Amino acid sequence: MGKTVKKEKEINREAETAEVKEGSAESMSAMTSDMANEATDNDLITGENSPMVLAENLVKIYKTSELEVLALQGLDLRVERGELTAIIGNSGSGKSTFLNMLGGLDEPSAGKLFVDGKNLFKLTPKEKVIYKRDTVGFVWQNNGRNLLPFMNAMENIMMPMHLTSEKNKKERALELLDLVGMSHRKFSRMNQLSGGEQQRIAIAIALANKPKLLLADEPTGSVDRKTADYIFDLFKRLNKEYNQTIIIVTHDVELSKKVARVVAIRDGKISSERILKEHYSNIGNGEINWMEEETQDEYTIVDRAGRIQIPRNMLDSLELKDNKIKVTIDDSIIKLENPQKNI
Ligand SMILES: Nc1ncnc2c1ncn2[C@@H]1O[C@H](COP(=O)(O)OP(=O)(O)OP(=O)(O)O)[C@@H](O)[C@H]1O
Ligand SMILES: [Mg+2]
Repeated sequence: MGKTVKKEKEINREAETAEVKEGSAESMSAMTSDMANEATDNDLITGENSPMVLAENLVKIYKTSELEVLALQGLDLRVERGELTAIIGNSGSGKSTFLNMLGGLDEPSAGKLFVDGKNLFKLTPKEKVIYKRDTVGFVWQNNGRNLLPFMNAMENIMMPMHLTSEKNKKERALELLDLVGMSHRKFSRMNQLSGGEQQRIAIAIALANKPKLLLADEPTGSVDRKTADYIFDLFKRLNKEYNQTIIIVTHDVELSKKVARVVAIRDGKISSERILKEHYSNIGNGEINWMEEETQDEYTIVDRAGRIQIPRNMLDSLELKDNKIKVTIDDSIIKLENPQKNI
């Protein structure tokens, strides 16, 4: 807990001393929107069609005295403004590493990352403080990182606003409490709330400074199924009604079936994507059983070098003796075969 308080104070102090105002990135060079598909060495990508997130060939190596861990191995991802994207993947696949980079909490070993047009790795320390305060909101699985237990719900939500020039802090906090369905508990302290209720307050806090990008790392990891459903539906509502761009990391394959887009990370790289079928995009939550229906189409991702990751179950079914596969094309259908199968 002491840690959280210290963090808040540190941010406060840094923000007070930060003389750089929003838009300081204007001094950086700009690039036209039609070039926004591909980042160059520029510091800023602009224009209506510029993506909210553009990651190019991100690499992260963690070095400790005993070993080196390759957490991200050339990750590419583009997220449009107003998208709700879930990131899914096995433990250790690099999900949190990527989310922390988006949140301005970590730096890559190589690669590029643009958020809201800004090249994150070219921000000055002052600009980064402002980025963390104004551009991104973060919700963690362990909401102790978001919440101050000795304050009530309302005070917790107003906390990040003290770092900004927001004039109507109380009104904004009440609005957010209403949005997350917690108005009736505004004077409750955190230890008087359930895990799911605390998580709803954590979402309100993350939204307090109207971030352009809301990031959530396993927000339903510590709550039961019913609460997890409620929280996912809340993210969906925020996305639909307020056009909030959201990226949620989750382990929960079933919950991710509700989302318009799910990207899968395998070994530090995006391996596949699932997109919600048209038919399901306008269906109300109560109308179908999300867990049982095949709501999404799945696609494998081809990287810039033409590499794909073959789904593990398909690869296993080939029963390869070594690492060689026979690749043929027949009427625009590419076939992968075990070259030794019929020997
Ligand atoms: N600070 C660190 N120092 C050394 N290795 C690290 C560090 N942080 C993460 N790693 C390693 O990097 C890899 C990716 O970790 P990451 O936390 O991104 O995984 P994850 O997909 O979020 O997993 P989980 O689902 O368990 O949260 C793992 O092998 C992890 O052990
Ligand atoms: Mg993680």
